[in-house]
Amino acid sequence: MKDQSATLFESVFAEDTYKGLTSYPKYLHSKYIYDKKGDKIFQEIMAMPEYYLTECEFDILKQNKVDIARIFSSDKDFDLIELGAGDGKKTKVLLKELVEKEYKFHYLPVDISQNVLDELEAALKDEIPEVAVKTQQGTYFDTLEKLAEYNSRKKVILVLGSNIGNLSHSEAVDFLRNIAVAMSEDDMLFMGFDQKKDPEVIMNAYNDAAGITERFNKNLLVRINQELDGEFDLEKFKHWETYDPETGTARSFLVSKEAQRVRIDKLDLEVKFDAWESIHTEISQKYDDAVVSWLADEAGLVVERDFADSENCFKNYIFRRK
Ligand code: AVI
Repeated sequence: MKDQSATLFESVFAEDTYKGLTSYPKYLHSKYIYDKKGDKIFQEIMAMPEYYLTECEFDILKQNKVDIARIFSSDKDFDLIELGAGDGKKTKVLLKELVEKEYKFHYLPVDISQNVLDELEAALKDEIPEVAVKTQQGTYFDTLEKLAEYNSRKKVILVLGSNIGNLSHSEAVDFLRNIAVAMSEDDMLFMGFDQKKDPEVIMNAYNDAAGITERFNKNLLVRINQELDGEFDLEKFKHWETYDPETGTARSFLVSKEAQRVRIDKLDLEVKFDAWESIHTEISQKYDDAVVSWLADEAGLVVERDFADSENCFKNYIFRRK
């Protein structure tokens, strides 16, 4: 086993993997699921009938686009900055409305993948050529640092898809606080939060019968095998989901079906698993109004308004600086 103090890891992924698999209990960061293959599996998840989140948020935007566009503009030119823009499917509903009503704005989509941004830009040129687009490649973190520089116009920051749910409450407060400090009085934040609901609906969304979420979760092991010369046998791990209706936390695990040792060459590490030992891989937090208001308050924000679908499955909140 490597002497960690003397080790220079070849990447942050290598270092985080080492830390997670030598901890007790074991864990891996869900952000590492998203390589090219992970992005594709997530697209498959969003198209699954069980994964209600996408459709619910799409409905909210369709039903409320007139109000939302009016609130975004409030008769001022603005920059619409979208963090984690993806394919922009949901955002296009708002962009079309903003263009139709001739509101004056620039659209600044940010994503970690340049490929995703190029495709989005091309699609917008084709479908809504009136939109002035300026893409920006980078992580949320890079962008938050630059956000404050966008101060010549009012800012509307858009974060769709309940991505915040993959953070613990304290990480979520830090994330919101970083946004809040970059906001001026006029600016607003529009963000999606998946809501607490029938536990069975949540369990089905994260434990689909076709095994797509299992493939998504196991992509962590695939990446370790490919990038760090790991020897994980995917068949020897079981995807396991739990949901605690009290805290609203869905948690994903990979559970070792037998006692085994797994070699990871580039980490010079042999990971020992007892039978039924777990690796915690992801949380997908579900919220209610009280928790969202509390997070906002801790971060220096206030909820100004919210929009829900007809079944209160999902909500989009508008926040302002306190
Ligand atoms: C990206 N994120 C909001 C998804 C979620 O719902 O937590 C990731 C995901 N994990 C399993 N299915 C989808």
